[in-house]
Amino acid sequence: MVEVGPRDGLQNEKQEISVATRVALIDRLSAAGLPVIEAGSFVSPKWVPQMAASEEVLAGIQRRPGVTYSALTPNMKGYERALQARADEVAVFGAASESFTQKNINCSIAESLERFRPLLQQARTDGIPVRGYVSCVLGCPYEGDIAPEKVAEVSAELLEMGCYEISLGDTIGVGTPEAARRMIETVASRVPMERLAVHFHDTYGQALANIYAALQAGVAVVDSAVAGLGGCPYARGASGNVASEDVLYMLDGLGIETGVDLKRLVAAGDFISAELGRESNSRVARALGG
Ligand code: HMG
Ligand code: MG
Repeated sequence: MVEVGPRDGLQNEKQEISVATRVALIDRLSAAGLPVIEAGSFVSPKWVPQMAASEEVLAGIQRRPGVTYSALTPNMKGYERALQARADEVAVFGAASESFTQKNINCSIAESLERFRPLLQQARTDGIPVRGYVSCVLGCPYEGDIAPEKVAEVSAELLEMGCYEISLGDTIGVGTPEAARRMIETVASRVPMERLAVHFHDTYGQALANIYAALQAGVAVVDSAVAGLGGCPYARGASGNVASEDVLYMLDGLGIETGVDLKRLVAAGDFISAELGRESNSRVARALGG
């Protein structure tokens, strides 16, 4: 399980969230046993002000041995900030849609890949693992349908450049299980299945079904956000990520070992929901009466 709540979740909040709250959330998530936590984002603070103080967040957390604390980095400037803040891992983020890439990172797909190349070279020298995101893998808010072949092409380029894992993002949550399976199989013809992760948003209530389809196709890494936080500021209609509590409940039911404790995870979700002053988006958290 890759926990993206402190980044993909909180980047989309309208209200201001203090560094102390971000730190407290991350420490609760690591205490729940999550192995990978996306702790922040070193993007332009003009573009995403919510992530501006990511240096302070990384400086404030209690680093639990064995936990990977990662951060988004769109360019060399972001990478240098992340390195300075002692991120264990960084992530570059591209998309399978030209229009979304323009809106999100202000360049074309080809330009974005060229921007990532020096970052990946430097990271290799520094021994920092780099994850690659591909957004809009099952649909784009500006272009509609996206060809699985395009997703495969961008994924293969990121892998070839040195990303150790490719996270396939259904940014606006429009995918359904068969479409997800077909897309994953197309990508897997160019990127080994063990290098793939899935990142579903639950806009249309399809996320768990899509994850189940991905697991059956052979994917073993799943992104999620505690309390179903999230969305993307550059994708209108993109509601929350699939809730980590709901993913964990399903994995527990399937007998898949994650090392994550459901009770503690629900408590982390209750904490951030209370801070944000609203009910959790996790069905499991609500059922357990948090
Ligand atoms: P730009 O304006 O084209 O870039 O933005 P620029 O290089 O011309 O820089 C403009 C200004 O930003 C300059 O400052 C730079 O120094 C500064 P000024 O001279 O005007 O004072 N700047 C930076 N400052 C701090 N850290 C940096 C940085 N880079 C430049 N790293 C840029 C290009 C990529 C920077 C911008 O478009 C950006 O930051 N975009 C980020 C958007 C974002 O974070 N989106 C959400 C994350 S993606 C997502 O959520 C999807 C995902 O979850 C998967 C899924 O669901 O599909 C991952
Ligand atoms: Mg996302």
